[in-house]
Amino acid sequence: MRQHQVVFLPSGRSGQVEAGTTLLAAARILNESIETICGGKATCGKCRVKILEGKNSDSKIKSGMAHLSPVSDEEKHFADRRGLKPDERLACQAKILGDVAVFVPEESRVGKLVVCKGAGERTIDVDPAVRNYFIKLSSPGLDDQTGDWDRLCAGIEKQLDLEKLTIDFHVLQTLSSVLRKGDWEVTVTIRDTKEVIGVEPGDVPKTYGLAVDIGTTSVAGYLCDLETGGVIATGSMINPQVKFGEDVITRIAYPQNHPDGLFEMNQVILSGLNRMAKDVTKKAGISSSDISEAVLVGNTAMHHILLNLDVEPLGKVPFTPSINRSVNVKARDMGLDILPSANVYLLPIEAGFVGADNVGVLIAEEPYNQDEMLLIIDIGTNGELVLGNRKQLLSTSCATGPAFEGANIKFGMRATPGAIDRVRIDPETRDVRFTVIGKTEWNTDLPKEKIQAKGICGSGIIDAVAEMFSSGIIKKNGSMDKTLNSLRLKTGTNGKTEFVIAHADETEIGQDITVTQADVRAIQLAKAALYAGAQMMMQRLKIEKPDKVVLAGAFGSVIDKKRALAIGMFPDCGLDNVYAVGNAAGDGARIALLNKDKRVEADRIAREVEYIELTAEPGFQEAFVQATQF
Ligand code: FES
Repeated sequence: MRQHQVVFLPSGRSGQVEAGTTLLAAARILNESIETICGGKATCGKCRVKILEGKNSDSKIKSGMAHLSPVSDEEKHFADRRGLKPDERLACQAKILGDVAVFVPEESRVGKLVVCKGAGERTIDVDPAVRNYFIKLSSPGLDDQTGDWDRLCAGIEKQLDLEKLTIDFHVLQTLSSVLRKGDWEVTVTIRDTKEVIGVEPGDVPKTYGLAVDIGTTSVAGYLCDLETGGVIATGSMINPQVKFGEDVITRIAYPQNHPDGLFEMNQVILSGLNRMAKDVTKKAGISSSDISEAVLVGNTAMHHILLNLDVEPLGKVPFTPSINRSVNVKARDMGLDILPSANVYLLPIEAGFVGADNVGVLIAEEPYNQDEMLLIIDIGTNGELVLGNRKQLLSTSCATGPAFEGANIKFGMRATPGAIDRVRIDPETRDVRFTVIGKTEWNTDLPKEKIQAKGICGSGIIDAVAEMFSSGIIKKNGSMDKTLNSLRLKTGTNGKTEFVIAHADETEIGQDITVTQADVRAIQLAKAALYAGAQMMMQRLKIEKPDKVVLAGAFGSVIDKKRALAIGMFPDCGLDNVYAVGNAAGDGARIALLNKDKRVEADRIAREVEYIELTAEPGFQEAFVQATQF
């Protein structure tokens, strides 16, 4: 097969790829990060790139549009709706037929996520599954020819009163040398008072664990001291699987068209986790192999991909997972580069779309121990809801779509520097003020060229829509009031009305950043899904409103609860009763790492919580349509 040279700019990443490879696939091969939300279906337009013509000093190859396959029907369809400039192509559609230099614009690059997933302040009763013990043994002699493992067992029984232990096979293979190196004084690492997973010479008092929350978009990790329970280092990254698609559905579908797709996604997340383990241990001055246990949470799709379990059934009615109960697997069997004999524990799954991350939220918030009726909303790429108290607990998931994360929004982007995250509109003049991530001042307090807005993130779009509604720019049904006298209302290329949030001279992309009618519709659908989901659960429990609303997830911490309430994202129970708790799923992972009894509780709760399939609930459609109104 012929090979062609591809150069990506401005990064300069380059290499040879086979003729017929799409630009997006070439980007993956060459480690260039190009956004893809639709997973290559030519609908999101996030993979838009510019093709350079002729020879260029940066690329040093003769490039041109003619070196790519003709524009596909899907791409034409996209261009008709959203427009493509003569020098632009969708990377997911254009196939390489000759040498080509590709400029990846800022909006099409995967940015560095500002992860707000801090380790929450929680009181945790520290009683981990893994502990280190210092053991002194007598040395063998002709009068005592007991085998090394039996000698260690006898020593452990005598000093710790623990019996019937097993030993990890790989640990057994090095046991003799370690015992002799330590001159019969060693530290044993024992899991669950059952298995010896490590033996080291001398006294090693510290033992470490890693808790990780694998979100569809971002991953947060906490390195913990298993003796004190303290978090000694944290790490975060964008889930490297985003290159296979932004949402869960796209990732579930990926292996259907790519024979090794599941394995590819599995390897990508494992490499990411291994990098994270290296980074956090480096920060703490230890090595990855000092991590003696890991606890991981994620939604059902992330969980299955991580374990290399078939994801296809997750995408089809009745959406059954491979396993509901919790999983214990050796780190080396999974490919996680920590202590090879360490146990990796994954929390149980509630149902197809309510995963181990939600169980993490449950053991962190413990609604099952409270009298008050709690509505817990975990807003990620998917919306997960829990309603209940000590008497009964319901859970459900709503297809909010990725709009709250800035996807499917014309100028939507993740919460990275340059994203508009706060918007205020004067109800009289309809003038706009906004802030962008990375700058503390409002745009009105900065020189225009310093503002450099790139797009709007989830919290920004909620603010914008809420403010547009309260200032009369959009009506109760969501349509924009074209009769208003505002210079910020303009007609987009598709003939539809748009409202300008940032003027072109305030942006880095050189064009107005607007909220379109379609954007408002996407937010209406997303908030209606959440609201109607909550309503169905309240109907089941025969309550008018919850006592408290708990907003979990990084996004829940950054949205303005007043404005979220104003657009009707969740039932009103008084602003003072709405709390953001940060990354509760990550806290749940940490809790399960530090307290083994919480794992038993997690397994029990995951079975007790009643999952509601919204689409099968009578009245859901009507409630949904009703909830689309502002
Ligand atoms: Fe190419 Fe969505 S349009 S990835």
